[in-house]
Amino acid sequence: MQDQSTDMADIGKDIQRAATFLSQGKLVAIPTETVYGLAANAFDEAAVVKIFEAKNRPAFDPLIVHTFAVSEIAGIVREVPDVAYVLAERFWPGPLTLILPKGERVPFLVTSGHDSVGVRIPRHPLTLDLLRQLPFPVAAPSANPFGYVSPTTAQHVQDQLGSRIPYILDGGACAVGIESTILSLNGDEVEVLRLGGLALEELEEVVHISKARIKTSSSNPTAPGMLSSHYSPRKKVLLGSIEANLPLVDGARIGVISLKKNFPQVPIGQQIQLSASGDLGEAARSLFSALRTLDEQPIDLILAEPMPEQGLGRAINDRLQRASFQG
Ligand code: TXA
Ligand code: MG
Repeated sequence: MQDQSTDMADIGKDIQRAATFLSQGKLVAIPTETVYGLAANAFDEAAVVKIFEAKNRPAFDPLIVHTFAVSEIAGIVREVPDVAYVLAERFWPGPLTLILPKGERVPFLVTSGHDSVGVRIPRHPLTLDLLRQLPFPVAAPSANPFGYVSPTTAQHVQDQLGSRIPYILDGGACAVGIESTILSLNGDEVEVLRLGGLALEELEEVVHISKARIKTSSSNPTAPGMLSSHYSPRKKVLLGSIEANLPLVDGARIGVISLKKNFPQVPIGQQIQLSASGDLGEAARSLFSALRTLDEQPIDLILAEPMPEQGLGRAINDRLQRASFQG
């Protein structure tokens, strides 16, 4: 039975219903392996406008277009460099977004006026089924209000955007938990615009990436969508050695995010170990939930420690840096 008295989104696994809403130009939150996306028909400008409105997202921050097969890319982009096929073959479906020359059917609203478009084939069975049924690709940013931490469960989406959308397709907790790695391809030049759920080590098995071509929160704080204030909880985050910072914040109510260390001085409910075994994949999966959980605690400040700079540790550090930016 539907409760008409609340205006929250319905949550379910009904692909048909999701497809109907999307075909009507409405928004649907969809699960992906990285984070939940807020989807609309990518070819329908009026539908895409609703994404920017629901998220309170500035028009200069472009959206990623999602589809289900490499053969569909031709309808979204103008040309596909050879290296894109190599990457697609190896990593799609998966946590990789490629920036390619924009095709005609994609409205400039999606790309924020750029002549390039971000494309991705996500790796989630429900969403792949949905995309196969639709006669159009979907534009989908992360399903959070602009600037806040991305959602990794259907409930996260409900908590913040539930009153603004009719339906959330529930695919469970996201398997990767951190947004896709974004590459721009300029001929043979590969540039990392955003560190993410596909580790550099894996990418480098296929393409060479020079250090100078990796953008981090400190190297390009103002590029579209790369704002340093992105991915922020409401609470202040202090990034650094927790042992070193604890004595400096004496008197404040502290929350802690560590990889695996325990801190006896901090109440148990206010410290989160991202992975007891020190696994960086598990840590990535837990990160955004941890930030949300601590955001709800009666604390003044979150102390977070940097992860080892390897594998998904790099992307976690990038998000923690952005969360801790005090602009
Ligand atoms: O994992 C993900 O990528 C998730 C899921 C839902 O697919 N999506 C996501 O979208 O994180 P969003 O909107 O939160 O971040 C997309 C970012 C933009 O902020 C921008 O930095 C970059 O992708 N982007 C998109 N199109 C671009 C373009 N044409 N040129 C440069 N950067 C672009
Ligand atoms: Mg986002």
